[in-house]
Amino acid sequence: MSPKNDIAEVSQESLYRIFTIPEAPDSTLGKIEKHLSENLMGFLGEHIVAREKPLQEIERDFDKSQIPEEPQFVSDHTEFLLDKLVAHSVHTASPRFIGHMTSALPYFLLPLAKLMVGLNQNLVKIETSKAFTPLERNVIGMLHHLVYQQDAPFYNRWMHSAQHSLGAFCSGGTIANMTALWVARNRLLQADGDFAGIAADGLAAGLQHYGYSKLTVVVSERGHYSLSKAADVLGIGRKNLVSVATDSDNRIRIDELRKTCEQIAKEGGKVLALVGVAGTTETGHIDPLDDMAAVAEEVDAHFHVDAAWGGATLLSEQHRPLLAGIER
Ligand SMILES: Cc1ncc(COP(=O)(O)O)c(C=O)c1O
Repeated sequence: MSPKNDIAEVSQESLYRIFTIPEAPDSTLGKIEKHLSENLMGFLGEHIVAREKPLQEIERDFDKSQIPEEPQFVSDHTEFLLDKLVAHSVHTASPRFIGHMTSALPYFLLPLAKLMVGLNQNLVKIETSKAFTPLERNVIGMLHHLVYQQDAPFYNRWMHSAQHSLGAFCSGGTIANMTALWVARNRLLQADGDFAGIAADGLAAGLQHYGYSKLTVVVSERGHYSLSKAADVLGIGRKNLVSVATDSDNRIRIDELRKTCEQIAKEGGKVLALVGVAGTTETGHIDPLDDMAAVAEEVDAHFHVDAAWGGATLLSEQHRPLLAGIER
């Protein structure tokens, strides 16, 4: 263990200390690790202070724009983190905390997270992930089965195929919405004759080749704002994310949806995708997905379901029917 304010010199001993030997058990970091492992709730309860500190005061602890010149061992820096960061974090695991999205995590995540950080695999390629890539494909297969319910030979054929993919894991709902609409966009404006496809020739060439004045994405007025980010990033344009009125249950009105699609077609636009919401962010309501899928077929549009929030409902035999139509 280093005495406090020990200078972290560049030396072989420092390197060993950082990469090989755990810092001594009685170092600050060692104590934190023990406390976290033995009693996470106790640790959080003890270190997160309930007293409110004005945000401006907290900002003053993080107001230096220069990267520090003096190296420091993590144990020494950890005291700063405990005092300035952990102490004023939000205690989302507190039994008195009410939050619909961020709450206590199941205990097993902590040791598993540690294992994963320790293994430090990189799923960018099999050379750096080996067993993790088959595991990833396996879990994607399970999620695919949860939605599409194909038979065993289907999964035997495709799940571990290096040339195919049954899906893509995304780091969150925003990236998932973006990825789904990206796929839809690239399928709509695919290669055809002289046109090499949007991925190669770009959006302007794609619109011109197919004779569309614009692409639109249609979602209920309860759609998550990440969809407008997706419309922006994909070159569709935020104004071309068209919202449709909902009923008294915050579910998209199918009559209004049809009218909206007709209007877009009249203006020379093309409906790229309809987006059903399976669990609106604020209220958890689920759009009538089957009816929406039928409209998507009618107007020849991709059907995407944003199930970032409610997708896990598929795991419940009892409530699964609420998402009927997601497979379309
Ligand atoms: C329905 C829905 N879609 C997308 C998102 C975006 O998810 P993320 O914050 O993981 O990007 C959210 C987040 O609340 C959501 O509720």
